[in-house]
Amino acid sequence: MDKKTFYITTPIYYPSGNMHIGHTYTTVAADTMTRFKKLTGYDTYFLTGTDEHGQKIERKAAEAGVTPQQFVDKIVAETKELWKLMDIQYDDFIRTTDERHVKIVQKIFRQFYDQGDIYKSEYEGLYCAQCEAFWTPTQVKEDPKGGLGLCPDCGRPVEKAHEESYFFRMSKYQDWLIDYIETHPDFIQPQSRANEMLTNFLRPGLQDLCVSRTSFKWGVPVDFDDKHVVYVWIDALSNYITALGYGTDHDELFKKYWPADIHLVGKEIVRFHTIYWPIMLHALGLPLPKRVFGHGWLLFGNDKMSKSKGNVVYPGPIVERYGVDTLRYYLMREMPFGADGNYTNEALLTRVNADLANDLGNLVSRTVAMIEKYFGGVVPAPETVDETTDAPLLERFAHMPELVEKSMDDLQFSVALSEIWKLVGDCNRYIDLTQPWVLGRSEEGKPRLATVMYNLAECVRAIAVAVGPVMPSTPERIFAQLGVTDPELKTWESIKAFGGLKVGTVVKKGEALFPRFDVAKELAALEGDKAEKDDKAAKKADKAEKKAEKKAEKAEIKDEKKADDEENAGLITIDDFAKVKLLTAKVIACERVPKSDKLLKETLEVGGSTRTVVSGIANYYTPEEMVGKTVVLVSNLAPRKMRGILSEGMLLCAEDSEGKLKLVTIEGGDFASGMEIG
Ligand code: MSP
Repeated sequence: MDKKTFYITTPIYYPSGNMHIGHTYTTVAADTMTRFKKLTGYDTYFLTGTDEHGQKIERKAAEAGVTPQQFVDKIVAETKELWKLMDIQYDDFIRTTDERHVKIVQKIFRQFYDQGDIYKSEYEGLYCAQCEAFWTPTQVKEDPKGGLGLCPDCGRPVEKAHEESYFFRMSKYQDWLIDYIETHPDFIQPQSRANEMLTNFLRPGLQDLCVSRTSFKWGVPVDFDDKHVVYVWIDALSNYITALGYGTDHDELFKKYWPADIHLVGKEIVRFHTIYWPIMLHALGLPLPKRVFGHGWLLFGNDKMSKSKGNVVYPGPIVERYGVDTLRYYLMREMPFGADGNYTNEALLTRVNADLANDLGNLVSRTVAMIEKYFGGVVPAPETVDETTDAPLLERFAHMPELVEKSMDDLQFSVALSEIWKLVGDCNRYIDLTQPWVLGRSEEGKPRLATVMYNLAECVRAIAVAVGPVMPSTPERIFAQLGVTDPELKTWESIKAFGGLKVGTVVKKGEALFPRFDVAKELAALEGDKAEKDDKAAKKADKAEKKAEKKAEKAEIKDEKKADDEENAGLITIDDFAKVKLLTAKVIACERVPKSDKLLKETLEVGGSTRTVVSGIANYYTPEEMVGKTVVLVSNLAPRKMRGILSEGMLLCAEDSEGKLKLVTIEGGDFASGMEIG
């Protein structure tokens, strides 16, 4: 039987500068998903590439004194190197300057013109050269300097543009698209982005889109009117089908893989992928991609990381110091895929120390070392069973694969990893509970010890298989220690039932899987490296961080003022209330903030991810009292630094008649965290 197909794409990136950790984030996510689908039996196709045309590239090349083609060739070569470094296994890398692409874009454009979807007219509007986007006066933000307005995406001043242009009759397809989105709830994800598209763009009415330019040359020429080049977004979006040979005699891949299963994109380009692209496809008589997922941004100092802002983190130095699997793990684990999150080296180091060195690394080395010590390195046959300790572990093992599959299908990488780490945690607790070192002291303990060792080794095997899509070289490193060589025992199918690991397998202790890092030392070294390698960039980033801090401070004052105003006004609307996102959260660790007698620093577990919050409640609660409580978190409060600690939210409290604070808590210890309240 033919395997089910799975086609996934990343955006094709602008080669206007080197790719940074933001582009890496999307690409690693697509690679992880592809590997996961392959592992679970799909015939996969993974496309990435570069979007090389447009005025911005033309300007950049001129500044650098080279031709646009020379300019992009260099960056594309470096991009491919970076993807190799990141262990990205794409099937194809499309460049919009490839002849195979250019020809078909011209053909598509001509077809639109011939069938009356495109017509020629005169354009007058506001244009952002940075984003290559046209805006109406109502869409731009007010320019404090009194200019024409600021681009709603990047915040730069827009210019007036006036030219003879071709237009696409977007308006003709508006009602069809509204209906399509409403009847296909899975098409745009997360769901909030679908609502945004409907409310902000579709329901107010679509304008016809200007789809050609005469103001610059670096683009795909309109082949029946060569004064014009094709608008970059029409050019770029087509890549998803031109790469598969659409419109040529060699369209086997297109027939096999279209429609795409997922277009992964950053949230800022959801609009192009869920409005223009579906309309283009519909006009071509083609089915739409099954899903467009708009993920959140990696922020740096609370600002979007971007080449043009100069506040950029590059993966190279991090991979060099900590390894590619470590960085991939951090990117997929730290923040829920739809949400924004701050990138910091400190968070990376803390996370890898805790999850990789302590939890996973220790589990593997302890398991292998104990099999060596007590059974001469040979995996024993299980003997004595103890239901109370064994059953919960085996239960966790049994459910892990299906829970991981479910989260991966929802693109919830962090949740999938936390499901795997629940098994890691349970194994470590199992060691504490069964106390193998006590069992190993006497002959009577041996039959029980044999079961404990077998169970642990089998769980480690399953964990090794499951982490592979995120950390491609880690499974083999674990299998080498565990003595697993049979390819059958490395499959997804093989971890769906307990007991695959063969009794008699010979284990072999190796190097620690993940070293533990001294966070302070590493941070100093990273800073040092950076300063040495790129003093200028470091200063710029520093400045950006200060600016972000100032902005946060200002926002805080503004927030306070707003709060005062609202208090004075007394009443709020339901919309005001809906803006506050209240979630249940579990306090998993808590400590006093040094040199402060009011502040506590809480570590919260919120639906599978962790957050830090600083609260002024040290006079009313001890850190010990806090741990284990399920509290109510204002989760979308702008993060702010308190005593040097970034506080990501606020806990709800009530004040009694003496001014003492009491936390609002949820009754019942096992209430899930991350549940919405309201
Ligand atoms: N060329 C267009 C896309 C055309 S697709 C038909 C483009 N290119 S880009 O170089 O600006 O890349 C944007 C994409 O890179 C985002 O949508 C996202 O996938 C990724 N990211 C770039 N910076 C990012 C962050 N700071 N955080 C997360 N993702 C980021 O837009």
